[in-house]
Amino acid sequence: MRTLKQIDVRDQKVLVRCDFNVPLDESGQISDNFRILKTLPTIKYLIEKNAKIILISHLGSPKGKDPRCSLKPIAAELSRLLGQEVKFVNDCTGSEVEKAVKNIEKRQVILLENLRFYKEEKDNNPEFAKKLAGLADVFIQDGFGVCHRAHASVAGVAALLPSAAGMLVEREVEVLNKILQDPYRPLVAIIGGDKISTKIKVIKIFLDKADHLLVGGKIANAILAIKGICVREPLPQEAEEVLKEVEAINLTDSKLHLPIDGVMSLANLDEKYLRTGAVGTVRKEEEIFDVGPETVANFKNIIASAKMVIWNGPLGQSEISPFEKASLEIAKAIKQSGAFSVIGGGETVEFVSKVGMLDDFNHVSTGGGAMLDFLAGKTLPGIEALKSKN
Ligand code: 3PG
Repeated sequence: MRTLKQIDVRDQKVLVRCDFNVPLDESGQISDNFRILKTLPTIKYLIEKNAKIILISHLGSPKGKDPRCSLKPIAAELSRLLGQEVKFVNDCTGSEVEKAVKNIEKRQVILLENLRFYKEEKDNNPEFAKKLAGLADVFIQDGFGVCHRAHASVAGVAALLPSAAGMLVEREVEVLNKILQDPYRPLVAIIGGDKISTKIKVIKIFLDKADHLLVGGKIANAILAIKGICVREPLPQEAEEVLKEVEAINLTDSKLHLPIDGVMSLANLDEKYLRTGAVGTVRKEEEIFDVGPETVANFKNIIASAKMVIWNGPLGQSEISPFEKASLEIAKAIKQSGAFSVIGGGETVEFVSKVGMLDDFNHVSTGGGAMLDFLAGKTLPGIEALKSKN
């Protein structure tokens, strides 16, 4: 995979695919600028090289032109962070864009409107990709979070222009490859959260590659329920779909560590009802919302001896304070272990940011689905396009 420093960008028009899919609050303000911050090294490098920089991205999954998904607030935030004006163009294709690009000066940065205002983006429409590619001399892929999508601006454009990975993508690929191919050992993988159908694949990979796999969150609840340890009917819909894969998991595998106790509440989340107990004692009307103290103690022991830790997915319903305890304890244990630490996934990053610990990890991935697909060994169209090109 060619990288930014290996491609000639000096004085060139450079199209940069970013992932500015950031959370906005009700008033349309950016509530977390983490993904924007992570793209600054690539943009600053291009400015230094006197490039003419055209940034493209999606935000949300709008059906047509939806002002609530406009990238305009991102241009303002980028201007603030870069200390220079980032011009916003109200479209991502058409005459207004062509004019802005024709007149773009060296070191200037412009941001085009949301690519997903056109359905051709998600369809990987070749004509749409051609229009985007026609704007520049070079293409840089710096939106790791979207590399698992075979969209026009991800896979299509890379095939049409000299292309390379930006600094963000380069670092993500380097760190995630290290985990999969040559990890520091013991490698401890921690998987939580609730995207059961996606995470079961990562669980299978880490049962093979990691020295210890710690599982929490709804994915652990589903495994316990499917294995008949913890009674809960009916099973979550997603769990039904992955039933066979879960059934194939060997519970006596010494690498696998499931919760032995949990913090329970009523399924309708009546916070006045809280009970801690063994997972085998969950009552019909209860649900596990966090892993319990004995599980946390066990997980902390394992983490203490780790040389590398990868964590994706909170261990409990971490956005609700009574159920954030295990995730907080685990975050602290990772920090104390001194292991090379990697975290990823929207909820995990949000949680760690909320408790002010973002800087305590060696690598914080910008990828949610992209990180999980990468770790599950799937090919990412955005990365493949860069490889096959070079
Ligand atoms: C993400 O937030 O994971 C990426 O921006 C990809 O977004 P998507 O899931 O809407 O394709």
